[in-house]
Amino acid sequence: MQLPIIDLADLGTTQPPKPIVDTVRDAAAEFGFFQIINHGVAPDLVAQVWDSTKAFFALPHDDKRNISRSKTNTRGYYDRELTKNARDLKEVLDLAHVPFPELDDTDPRNFHRVDGFNQWPDLDGFRSTMVAYLQACEQLSLRLLDTFSASLGQDPQYLRSFFDQDHTSFVRLNHYPLDDLLSPGEAISTTPLGDMALHHHSDAGALTLLLQDDVGGLQVEHDQDWIDVEPIPGAFVVNIGDMMQVWANNRFRAALHRVAPRTDRERYSLPYFFNPSYGTDYAPLPSTISPDTPPQYRTLNWGEFRQARADGDFADYGTEIQIAHFSV
Ligand code: OGA
Ligand code: NI
Repeated sequence: MQLPIIDLADLGTTQPPKPIVDTVRDAAAEFGFFQIINHGVAPDLVAQVWDSTKAFFALPHDDKRNISRSKTNTRGYYDRELTKNARDLKEVLDLAHVPFPELDDTDPRNFHRVDGFNQWPDLDGFRSTMVAYLQACEQLSLRLLDTFSASLGQDPQYLRSFFDQDHTSFVRLNHYPLDDLLSPGEAISTTPLGDMALHHHSDAGALTLLLQDDVGGLQVEHDQDWIDVEPIPGAFVVNIGDMMQVWANNRFRAALHRVAPRTDRERYSLPYFFNPSYGTDYAPLPSTISPDTPPQYRTLNWGEFRQARADGDFADYGTEIQIAHFSV
């Protein structure tokens, strides 16, 4: 069993073509996951992003911890993330959309009142590469959003209004090492490692675009089985998040996925989480509601949902919040 591979060469910049809309609809309904090729993100930029990512994780651990995230700044380095209340064997750097790249990260126009501000490693060209990559992911995500909108029977532009300058998208640099990064003393005083490199979960936001290296290990749940997401050079893996499942009124699935433990080679991956403004309220789209298909969710607010979820990733506060809490 393999995930669909969708060629976006004909996607264009205006109305998404019907064959692509139909293929995306089928893939989103069946798997909630697919891969895209000919997506328009420049291969040179992707190569620079990989180089910068590897250069960052190769820095001394103390240098990485100097830009750690904290309870008040959600952006930065982290080496003890929890998913489903077990510790993942990975280290990450989260970098969010920069609305005004020419201004400082702590300028009020870049500083996000809830999330905080980006922290950059001291590496030549790192910031400009990542800012360019964030912009490329934003543009591709908006085109995919139009396609999803159309595939749910709305005007293609319908969902765009939620993604203006203060959208809360971010890229996460993921490194899955072979051994625990925490010293034995640190490991003993925190949540134990689980049995997965990354525990099963669905992504909370609208869409995720993921680049992975050639190691493999990402798996998606389908019909009570786990399908391997085969690495395809240059392709993005696209998956829908909980928010899209709500908009789609369960026509599309935010599939569970996980990363199997590494045994021989470390792995790198780069998810871009495409998320709207925190003020966004979301509920099943009008086009998905009929007498036979009443709304399956009440209205959620993205800021509140995200805050609850982020607290759960940061430390074990009990039950992780899920969209199922909002089912009607
Ligand atoms: C994630 C995720 C998958 C991967 O970070 O949410 O699902 O391949 N990552 O690293
Ligand atoms: Ni994920």
